[in-house]
Amino acid sequence: MFKGILINKDEAGYKAQYQSIDDSVLPEGDVTVKVEWSTLNYKDGLAITGKSPVVRRFPMVPGIDFAGTVSASSNPAWKIGDKVILNGWGVGETHCGGLAEVARVKGEWLVALPPNFTARQAMAIGTAGYTAMLCVIALEKHGIKPADGEILVTGANGGVGSVAIALLAKLGYNVVASTGRLAESDYLKALGATSVIDRNELSAPGKPIGKERWAGVVDAVGSHTLANACATTKYRGAVAACGLAGGMDFPSTVMPFILRGVTLYGIDSVMAPLTVRQEAWQRLGKDLDPAKLDAMTSDIGLSEAIAYASALLAGEVRGRLAVDVSR
Ligand SMILES: NC(=O)c1ccc[n+]([C@@H]2O[C@H](COP(=O)([O-])OP(=O)(O)OC[C@H]3O[C@@H](n4cnc5c(N)ncnc54)[C@H](OP(=O)(O)O)[C@@H]3O)[C@@H](O)[C@H]2O)c1
Repeated sequence: MFKGILINKDEAGYKAQYQSIDDSVLPEGDVTVKVEWSTLNYKDGLAITGKSPVVRRFPMVPGIDFAGTVSASSNPAWKIGDKVILNGWGVGETHCGGLAEVARVKGEWLVALPPNFTARQAMAIGTAGYTAMLCVIALEKHGIKPADGEILVTGANGGVGSVAIALLAKLGYNVVASTGRLAESDYLKALGATSVIDRNELSAPGKPIGKERWAGVVDAVGSHTLANACATTKYRGAVAACGLAGGMDFPSTVMPFILRGVTLYGIDSVMAPLTVRQEAWQRLGKDLDPAKLDAMTSDIGLSEAIAYASALLAGEVRGRLAVDVSR
């Protein structure tokens, strides 16, 4: 038996509970991990509350990521005592996840804990931060340089947004943070935003094409915000779209793409190949200021995670929530 969150769906309805879980719930896998830290990502909020059909098998342990120590392995790549992290691969959706003391997974899904991070720091970054890094890498590979102009980050107070701001600022970019919480402007500026705008400027239906402003965009919001961001991106600029916190629709036209040569990059962290993950984690070790990571992270216990899920979806959590699985 081990402690964790278990989601069940039956005649009584959809329910997530912090409880003792029998080992028989653990799925097939060639590596067993003693989980030390996990996190609450937006998708975990959807899974725990049942607000979106993220969980596709029951009973399910949620948690799309974790950091911990290998406790058993029949995979030649991993041995007892190895420190590992996992992001995505359907863990917490179709395969039991990280919001529990034990996880059993396929060895090929694991990445070695980067040497410059503790398990807590890796999960303070979590899938949100690793996705922010993927977005920044996409803009860099497009060729956007700090001198090209402002980079817009939407959903700025969230996990993806906070890490993206810290990374872009460290790399010398001029970052404009878009938020619904202007009262958090000092926090966003401390992370490295040069200015802060009200997200209402971007969230209403806009024109197919507008005044050119952004050299690049990291968008965690979707819907009209993403459409307006594309419409106001400069000639041959790029937008990295990773989220849907404001909606999953994309009410745009082809105009930004065919008149301005704007490129829209889709960012997926879940099924990203190993080499892409390794590059992202290596870059996080180099380009994410640990002091800023600390400033954006709050620690909660596993027993508190269910209570925080709704607040996260309501956009009430600032930055990242790291989950200490031992309490
Ligand atoms: N593609 C991938 O692989 C991947 C990976 C990780 C995350 N994601 C997605 O990225 C998004 C952000 O994830 P996260 O972990 O950063 O979530 P989060 O911590 O909950 O942050 C989301 C932020 O979006 C803003 N927001 C919330 N509701 C909004 C609304 N109705 N309209 C406009 N803005 C709203 C809020 O920021 P302000 O208060 O500053 O406005 C909120 O803090 C989610 O949709 C998540 O599913 C995708």
